[in-house]
Amino acid sequence: MIDPIATIYRHVGQTEPYYKLVDEFYARVENDKLLRPLYPEDLSDAKRHLTLFLIQRTGGQTTYSDERGHPRMRGRHMPFRIGVPERDAWMHNMTEALETVPEFAPHKDDLFKFFADFATFLINQ
Ligand code: HEM
Repeated sequence: MIDPIATIYRHVGQTEPYYKLVDEFYARVENDKLLRPLYPEDLSDAKRHLTLFLIQRTGGQTTYSDERGHPRMRGRHMPFRIGVPERDAWMHNMTEALETVPEFAPHKDDLFKFFADFATFLINQ
């Protein structure tokens, strides 16, 4: 099975674009009436974890699992009510954020598909 996102980190070659992507994403979550209440008031841990997860998932350093153990993403999302509207809102914010980081432009289609499938997999209501 070819995993098209597993080599993205090698192409991007640095962590800054990941931090930028996640900052842009959470700036949108801050103003999202549906999603904002799901997150804690202080978003710094959520930002850090998503950044490290994406670096690891795309072939970069494994700090995420070194700190957090196995991702268990479905389990970690179970405490939050995620239906189709929440999934769509998450995707909307991430799609916009992705557009703002030029380093990801060559990988946009692969990342979009990964995010869309993953977000659908996390629906729990
Ligand atoms: C489908 C809509 C989604 C919603 C509503 C959602 C919501 C959340 C919430 C509320 C948290 C907890 C934040 C905190 O307590 O600090 C979280 C954590 C996280 N989410 Fe999502 N999420 C969604 C989709 C995704 C997707 C698609 C990914 C990955 C591509 C993802 C990756 C993560 C990661 C890495 C964490 C941190 C897990 C940890 O504790 O280590 N989420 N999410």
